[in-house]
Amino acid sequence: MEKIIISGGKKLKGDVTISGAKNAAVAVIPATLLVSDICRIENIPSISDITLMCKIMSEMGANIRMVNKNTLEIDTRKVASAVVSCDLIRNMRASFYITGALLGRFSKAAVSLPGGCNFGGIRPIDQHLKGFTALGANCKLDGGVVHVSSEKLIGNNIYLDVVSVGATVNIMLAAVKADGCTVIENAAKEPHIVDLANFLNCMGANVCGAGTDIIKVHGVKKLNGITYSIIPDQIEAGTYMVAAAATKGDVTINNVTPKHLESITAKLEEIGVSIEEKDESLRVYVNKDHLIRCNVKTLPYPGFPTDMQPQITALLSTVNGTSIVSEGVWDNRFGYVEELRRMGAQISVDGKMAVIEGVQRLKGATVRAPDLRAGAALITAGLCADGTTIIEEISHIERGYENIIEKLRSLGANIKKVTFDDDPINSVAKAL
Ligand code: EPU
Repeated sequence: MEKIIISGGKKLKGDVTISGAKNAAVAVIPATLLVSDICRIENIPSISDITLMCKIMSEMGANIRMVNKNTLEIDTRKVASAVVSCDLIRNMRASFYITGALLGRFSKAAVSLPGGCNFGGIRPIDQHLKGFTALGANCKLDGGVVHVSSEKLIGNNIYLDVVSVGATVNIMLAAVKADGCTVIENAAKEPHIVDLANFLNCMGANVCGAGTDIIKVHGVKKLNGITYSIIPDQIEAGTYMVAAAATKGDVTINNVTPKHLESITAKLEEIGVSIEEKDESLRVYVNKDHLIRCNVKTLPYPGFPTDMQPQITALLSTVNGTSIVSEGVWDNRFGYVEELRRMGAQISVDGKMAVIEGVQRLKGATVRAPDLRAGAALITAGLCADGTTIIEEISHIERGYENIIEKLRSLGANIKKVTFDDDPINSVAKAL
């Protein structure tokens, strides 16, 4: 069993380079299924979600070659079936993008219901299916498998009842080769939506409006394989910004798009953190003794990201005064709060709202990472806590953060990953 061990109290100092965006890469990789050709994708983060997506695509017949650690060559010429019977698909949410891509290429798909982080019950796909249906597909759920098929996909107007990243992606993929024009209203505006649209347009698609709440997809007959580079990861960058603030450090974060980080930058400045912005980097530092409490509400982009909610909560748990964090995207994303409480945080949760009474110091404890961003929050808490924090169930963290241990160590953190022998009598920790 692997765990992360942190001796807290070190201020993070130095430079860190951000990897490619997980949530863009997990959309662009299945999007390559739209063509029968070869695509080369650069700036792919080296994380377990990508390994899993590549395994699923390989089982479907795609030939995937790692050109180097962060570049993949994906040859989809031998993908002939629209039926995906691979069990792995249930382990990640984004695997469901394969449905939109197969529907776009073969006019049909049969794909298992997706998995992913659990934020309070089953994550719905009604808006994905609403979109496919509007394009003329028949959709039915049978034995945990979603079947979609159509004689011919025809562009249509689709108003999303909720702003959904996943539904926006899936509808874009299905609509790219449909007849006529598809209009997605109330579309998600996240940077990864724009990145996917740019990728599709480079392949020969005609997508406009990505980044606004109305996306128009004019169907095209043919797409081509291309070389494309994924944007930097907004949430990985935000996580290092918050970690720098929580440890009262001084960190320069390279390979970022500052525009994508505006809501995080604005909130950290309100808390009293200093931020200097350059074209592709940010310096984040604290030059005062006390930060200032604040309220945060998460919203779809350009609002404060829900994927930064656990990390900012960890930071605010050591800021004097009462802060309120409201979750505006997911029904239940405060499951990790009981882990922060083990570390001495004083947080009460009422539905979609957490009330934080800042304490002076957190104390190291043994905690478990219930999901990816919660894991990042526990690392943040461990970095600024007194004593030793042991984080269990770290596979969640490795789903989305490339080399997080090495990156934090290079910033001066006292953090390591250890492997424990599962046999308790023989439980010798081996530092990696
Ligand atoms: N929703 C519906 N019906 C649907 C789809 C979504 O009601 O058909 C609701 C959800 O229940 C939720 C809201 O709409 O309340 C937003 O869900 P969305 O579809 O936008 O989420 P997602 O596409 O499943 C992506 C990210 C998540 C991120 C959310 C919100 C990927 C692979 N995942 O999920 O990222 O939290 O958007 O920004 O892009 C993470 O990276 O840690 C992560 C969980």
